[in-house]
Amino acid sequence: MEAGNKSDNFWYKDVVFYELHVRTFCDSNGDGVGDFKGLTTKLDYLQWLDVDCIWLLPFYPSPLKDDGYDVSDFYSIHPDLGTIEDFRVFVHEAHKRGIKVIVDLVFNHVSSEHSWFKEARSHPESQKKSWFIWSDTNKKNISARIIFSDTEKSNWAWDDEAKAYYWHRFYGYQPDLNYDNPEVREEMKNVMRFWLDTGIDGFRCDAVPYIFDRDGTSSENLPETHLFFREGRKMLDEEYPGRILLAEVNQWPTEAISYFGNGDEFHMLFNFPLMPRIFIALAKEHYQPVADIINQTKSIPEACQWAIFLRNHDELTLEMTNDEERDVMWREYAKHPKMRFNLGIRRRLAPLADNDRLRIELLYGLLFSLPGSPLIYYGDELGMGDNIFLGDRNGVRTPMQWSPDKNAGFSSADSEQLYLPVITNPNYHYEAINVYAEKRLPYSLLNWMKNVIGIRKQKKAFGRGYIEILKPSNTKILAFIREYDDERILCIFNLSRHAQYFELNLGQYAGMIPVEMFGNTNFPAIKKEPYSFTLTGHRFMWFELRKNTSV
Ligand code: NOJ
Repeated sequence: MEAGNKSDNFWYKDVVFYELHVRTFCDSNGDGVGDFKGLTTKLDYLQWLDVDCIWLLPFYPSPLKDDGYDVSDFYSIHPDLGTIEDFRVFVHEAHKRGIKVIVDLVFNHVSSEHSWFKEARSHPESQKKSWFIWSDTNKKNISARIIFSDTEKSNWAWDDEAKAYYWHRFYGYQPDLNYDNPEVREEMKNVMRFWLDTGIDGFRCDAVPYIFDRDGTSSENLPETHLFFREGRKMLDEEYPGRILLAEVNQWPTEAISYFGNGDEFHMLFNFPLMPRIFIALAKEHYQPVADIINQTKSIPEACQWAIFLRNHDELTLEMTNDEERDVMWREYAKHPKMRFNLGIRRRLAPLADNDRLRIELLYGLLFSLPGSPLIYYGDELGMGDNIFLGDRNGVRTPMQWSPDKNAGFSSADSEQLYLPVITNPNYHYEAINVYAEKRLPYSLLNWMKNVIGIRKQKKAFGRGYIEILKPSNTKILAFIREYDDERILCIFNLSRHAQYFELNLGQYAGMIPVEMFGNTNFPAIKKEPYSFTLTGHRFMWFELRKNTSV
């Protein structure tokens, strides 16, 4: 089976991920909805941008009440998006360009429109009945929290047809599968095999901590859950070596890290604890929130890697923050009530940074140099805006902006026909914020992004290196060293809006030359004494520490 270049099984440590929705990316047939054929025509753009691995949001048949996370058939493609053949062509064309593909797989639940659930609810003796979790009462397992707190009042929903309650951790129309049933476990492994056989490079595994439930517990992170995914991993290693499992595990560091197992469970996890703390550090102009969480998350098995992100298709979740941290986030980043959603903030990156180019660059500077493989959410490389009035999380899922033409070049349909309207807010209007316009401007955010990705790729230390957070003389400065083999990179960030002076004790590197990596510019050699720097507001610098060969 074709699966990109399998020569290095740690490939996922060096990649830049690009997350996109087929529906939002490019419409090839003018029906107002993106599709696989359209996406395939945009692979050259992704290759130009230099991203290495695409994460596709769910593309399966679905009533689309949760943007495709309500799957009604795991073995097919939503008809709006194309056919299995279109999918295969897309994967093949991506691989031809050296781009890998991972796909979202929703393990925890299905749509209530899925034939499994329809059959289960239809009569008590149905063969599929035990594929779901039923109860006569909604008073069981009440210690499990409600995740979609804005809309759901209980994790039980009454089904008139079955005359019983069924269990769901997300929306009421997303019944949870019953993983205590071995048939369910086997079926989901078959779903994995089905997609792996198309040549994909792995899965982004949705809502991992919740697949098993036990009365009287939080029904999160249960040992059975770990066991199931360890079995899945074993299957992958034996039958599809080189493919990866990336988990959505929105948990505190200790619980999250447990999903790496001994390097025998997930290859990758999103670093949910780190993400909000990057924003908190910026709001507080203090290095501590990031330093603390990095120190808690830096020791993981050698074969494992964090996926680090600033934004994705969901709200910027604040589940992994305490009350004080949450207050900072609401105050700084959610000034309008519509910006809040469940326990999070539904905004894109540029609006979160108040469209301040320096703050956007600083955030990306952190993303591209902290430990892990970074993820770009489609459109954020352009500084796309959002629309907080669209409901649910649709405001951050509007069409990709390709050009100043009709519908931002996304679709030739009438604008009323688009699955969601394009962004026309004057500060983020698609006529200016689009691929065509930004490609032509040498100093656009898009060209800056391409450049920063290229610079990151020159050094393995960014993806694979050890991190040591340095103790700055000034708490508004975050400084760290990334180190791998003979590579040493010093990264410094001014989290404050004003210029800052600071000193770093770099004595152990005495004699080395810091070379600024964007301009390849030599700085004075490091001495035993503290090294002094000045950074203007919200600026960052990366230095390669090179041996001084002139002495
Ligand atoms: C996590 C996904 O990221 C989110 O978009 C979805 O609503 C929930 N899982 C439920 O499927």
